[in-house]
Amino acid sequence: MNTFQLNDGHKIPQTGFGVFMVEPNGPTEQVVLMALKAGYRMIDTAAAYFNEEDVGRAIRKSGIPRDEIYVTSKLWMQDYGYAAAKAGIDTSLKKLGLDYMDLYLLHQPYKDTAGAWKAMEEAVKAGKIRSIGISNHSLAFLKKLLPQMEILPAVNQMECNPFCQQKELRRLLNQYGIRLEAWYPLGHGNAELLQNEVLRGIAEKYQKSVGQVILRWHLQEGIVALPKSTSEAHIRENLQLYDFSLTDAEMAEIRGLDQGHGTHNPDDMNNEKILERYNVH
Ligand SMILES: NC(=O)c1ccc[n+]([C@@H]2O[C@H](COP(=O)([O-])OP(=O)(O)OC[C@H]3O[C@@H](n4cnc5c(N)ncnc54)[C@H](OP(=O)(O)O)[C@@H]3O)[C@@H](O)[C@H]2O)c1
Repeated sequence: MNTFQLNDGHKIPQTGFGVFMVEPNGPTEQVVLMALKAGYRMIDTAAAYFNEEDVGRAIRKSGIPRDEIYVTSKLWMQDYGYAAAKAGIDTSLKKLGLDYMDLYLLHQPYKDTAGAWKAMEEAVKAGKIRSIGISNHSLAFLKKLLPQMEILPAVNQMECNPFCQQKELRRLLNQYGIRLEAWYPLGHGNAELLQNEVLRGIAEKYQKSVGQVILRWHLQEGIVALPKSTSEAHIRENLQLYDFSLTDAEMAEIRGLDQGHGTHNPDDMNNEKILERYNVH
């Protein structure tokens, strides 16, 4: 699996497989097994996806050595603050059935984010987590959090695709060597994105799908993409990104599609309402 370098010395696969909104107790296990068989070596789950157990089962059933699979999970807001985060980390490990996670993220900014981060730093020192990072941290949140951190985040996982390119945030991330990971890399299936004329033109030229062009764009931008699919054909297709490359002019053309915002505004989240919907305890 091709990898990118992280700022903590570890490497991360360039493309991973996301399991947001895939049902637990079977469907997630099935789809992760399918993805591993297709060649994915990174799985992105979260406490709030309620399917960490399925991910762990699929990894064990796959027969692939643990150290060849990169596992990411995320701490949910309910478990922020130092003491709660320590317990939350152990719960994720237990549910996954693993003795370490490759990457663990703060799912989004909320109340005692700094206390939760301290617990994550200690878990790195204890060997429970290899790399730690954040998610949904906009410029404003990141600027507030950075001075309180002993270990810098290795990644920031944000909504990112050709319509939402996070250009300003990426300038700050680059200063700290923090790698951007893209959620909704295919726009969550947004038809306007997947049928965009510029992207379709490029796809036709290379005899590739629009999805593959979008994922290749992420790769050439140095962004880790986490496409999700429950279709076997898409799962395979989304990994076939290395038999073509976009020219500088095509990269520039795609950069021109940026609309400057995505479907979610991390600076304006109704976290209390979200917490009512996602109770991980
Ligand atoms: N940190 C966060 O707050 C956060 C938030 C959201 C998501 N995430 C992560 O990001 C991952 C990806 O997000 P997502 O799953 O919602 O969005 P996505 O990967 O952008 O889009 C998935 C949608 O695109 C379709 N699709 C997949 N491959 C395709 C292809 N080659 N051509 C056309 N359509 C294709 C899928 O349908 P089929 O099933 O039919 O293929 C599905 O409807 C999540 O699973 C999760 O791991 C993180």
